[in-house]
Amino acid sequence: MDVNRIRGDFPILSRIEHGRPIVYLDSAATSQKPTAVLQAEEQYYAHSNANVHRGVYALSVEATDAYEAARARVARFLNAGDPSEVVFLRGTTEAINLLATSLGRSTLRKGDRVVTTVMEHHSNVVPWHMLRQYSGIELSFVGIDDGGRLRLDELDRLLADRRTKVVTLTHVSNVLGTVNPVREVADRAHAAGALVIVDAAQSVPHRRVDVRALGADFVAFSGHKMLGPMGIGVLWGKADFLEALPPCMGGGEMIREVHTDRVSYANAPAKFEAGTPNVGGAVALGAAIEYLERIGWDELHAHDTRLLRRLLTGVADRFGPSVRVYGPTELSEREAVVSFSLAGVHPHDIASLLDADGICVRAGQHCAQPLMDRLGVPALTRASPYVYNTDTEIDALLDGMAKILQLFSTDPPPRATAG
Ligand SMILES: Cc1ncc(COP(=O)(O)O)c(C=O)c1O
Repeated sequence: MDVNRIRGDFPILSRIEHGRPIVYLDSAATSQKPTAVLQAEEQYYAHSNANVHRGVYALSVEATDAYEAARARVARFLNAGDPSEVVFLRGTTEAINLLATSLGRSTLRKGDRVVTTVMEHHSNVVPWHMLRQYSGIELSFVGIDDGGRLRLDELDRLLADRRTKVVTLTHVSNVLGTVNPVREVADRAHAAGALVIVDAAQSVPHRRVDVRALGADFVAFSGHKMLGPMGIGVLWGKADFLEALPPCMGGGEMIREVHTDRVSYANAPAKFEAGTPNVGGAVALGAAIEYLERIGWDELHAHDTRLLRRLLTGVADRFGPSVRVYGPTELSEREAVVSFSLAGVHPHDIASLLDADGICVRAGQHCAQPLMDRLGVPALTRASPYVYNTDTEIDALLDGMAKILQLFSTDPPPRATAG
């Protein structure tokens, strides 16, 4: 994989920030976009734009074909049984809200249990809290061990009384980088009669996610973290489960018949796509998947892992206990999402000081307050490299961390030798 050639595909990376070339290390928040993706969206609006599924004229048919081709592209990427298993939505957040609302209306009753984990993004916690508040379900959390791995023994305890109807978990933690053993969790949950939902927002950018191999019933992700545009994402669901689920939002495009005294709904996926969809976004997401597939998932993963190793080894070698990295230490158990703390320095100060060197990292709670509580920290700083980052950029981050540690150090600065 030629990272310098790849960087040439990302116009934003030539930006100068505070007098230096930008070092973008916040891809877990959102990735940058290659020209192929920008052009796919522009081409769609410049040449093929019309509303979909409505017109009989050629342009509308072309727009519909482009939208449905993007759906088929996503279905192939996920190894879905059929394109109709792919629902286009705004992103992971909307997908999980849809599931919580629709399952709340159809399946979950007061006293049923939904199990999630303490390492979830708020988008896989708050919709279930809302269901707890409004419908009286019980919401339980599987904990983690000190290495940032899920406590499967706690999951087993929660599955034992068969009150658990849904197990919903992230594939990869947006804070710890932990890759969860989703297949194992899914097998145990299914054996106990529960549905399994996977938040794949942080896994699809880094690895090919085969929904059948994963063993889940529903998988949600966002396009913008995998080189696609903002405002487009996917809910994949097994065909019979999507068919059984009632729609969440009502409006145009999602109905079979509407009369003053009755309404009936279209089949999936249309049933879940009320209103005018983000066609340009779907087309551009298809282009993003094609771009990643041209690089190759194995190549991409090897690149991400090399950057991850360089960062973790650099931190351990240069800083020892002054820098604490959270999450698993084994590379095979994690992705390139690295949250850390520097002794005695607030995460926001770290991010601001790195920004002065043109280095973009994220500081805060990362929409994961239950995890911050579990770790006993108010906030963390996170660096998340991706396909376009280089070894030199990882070294720039390490140098930036060294400078900050020196700045906050109580030791006197090294004396210049008299000359
Ligand atoms: C693990 C995880 N889940 C869900 C989300 C929410 O994604 P979106 O804001 O695109 O809906 C994020 C975003 O950071 C995430 O990291």
